[in-house]
Amino acid sequence: MHTVLITGGAGFIGSHLTRLFVTKYSQYKIVNIDKLTYAGNLENLKDIEHSPNYEFVKGDITDLPFLRSLFEKHQFTAVLHCAAESHVDRSITDPLAFVTTNVVGTGCLLQTAKEFWKDNFDNKIFYHISTDEVYGSLGKEGFFTEETAYDPRSPYSASKAASDHLVRAFYHTYHMPVKISNCSNNYGPFHFPEKLIPLCIHNIINNKPLPIYGKGENIRDWLYVEDHVRAIDVIFHTGKIGETYNIGGHNEWTNIDLVKELCKQMDLKLGRETGASEKLITYVKDRAGHDLRYAIDATKLKNELGWMPSLQFEEGISKTIDWYLNNTEWLNHVTSGNYQNYYEQQYDKR
Ligand code: NAD
Ligand code: TYD
Repeated sequence: MHTVLITGGAGFIGSHLTRLFVTKYSQYKIVNIDKLTYAGNLENLKDIEHSPNYEFVKGDITDLPFLRSLFEKHQFTAVLHCAAESHVDRSITDPLAFVTTNVVGTGCLLQTAKEFWKDNFDNKIFYHISTDEVYGSLGKEGFFTEETAYDPRSPYSASKAASDHLVRAFYHTYHMPVKISNCSNNYGPFHFPEKLIPLCIHNIINNKPLPIYGKGENIRDWLYVEDHVRAIDVIFHTGKIGETYNIGGHNEWTNIDLVKELCKQMDLKLGRETGASEKLITYVKDRAGHDLRYAIDATKLKNELGWMPSLQFEEGISKTIDWYLNNTEWLNHVTSGNYQNYYEQQYDKR
């Protein structure tokens, strides 16, 4: 039995995680707090918003009095911490927003959990959701393991690395019962169309240019988001306290090959002539400090907890494209900014 605080549950990964926990664990109480930044969208959770074991509270993880009152009210036994500023390009233009939410916000959550749990850490879990980007950039060979030294190179990854260090510091100093996972790039439904895959799907639908940074040779290891939240579920329930687990898809693609695969599948689905969408590919100025390659070795998770990705990439990407084609209202609300009215419509009137 748990009373779980999920942070950032209105975002991309957070909404899948919230849905999984609310539907799979009806005996748990799930409270989702989210500041509803541009990346938070309550429309992602429409199907579960009235579930009896679920509650949404708008709030900021850097607001200590708010966190304390929430812990007082709900007596949480677990935290699943997803809230973050998550887009590398935004971290290049506004690094301090990343320091505030990712570092200070994580510190505030840890501090609040410590205050409420310090007399009895039994059956408590502080689960921190992190990224493989903390390990830096690989050359053509090798993989990130849990032992790889941290070498973050963007303000985003540096702020996530700092938050991971804080979580481990609370484990070693105060015996806070923590778990951390570092995952590779996710894709799937409800992904905000500023990230490569949903941005390209949106632009292909609308016959707009597909911006490829540099030569398109950078490599990412892509994992279907539902496989990621399934791994979090396994680690939450069976992973060891104080441990870190890498989560990855063993699915490396150069950006250009990935976008060409998207174009190929979408030409077929949209009934376009073969090669039509590829003509939209446009090479643009490279991202500053662009990491060349990320690739995860998820052997520990497979050997110790039995988790493996369930979907092949071609299948996952096909499901993802179908979801965007069938959810044009969601996509239109996001691209027009209308989704930001959903909170007022659904919650302010109560
Ligand atoms: P996202 O940007 O889609 O969602 C982040 C959510 O956090 C949003 O709902 C936003 O409103 C909320 N938020 C932001 N600042 C907040 C604050 N101060 N207080 C409360 N809520 C706040 O991000 P995502 O892609 O779903 O990523 C979730 C987590 O997973 C992040 O910690 C990220 O570092 C990590 N991660 C992401 C990926 C990926 O590919 N997207 C891969 C590995 C790890
Ligand atoms: P992104 O989805 O932003 O994830 P991350 O930077 O966290 O890996 O980008 C994935 C890759 O795609 C990355 O190498 C940058 C590149 N990219 C483009 O080439 N064009 C784009 O418009 C975007 C958003 C990303």
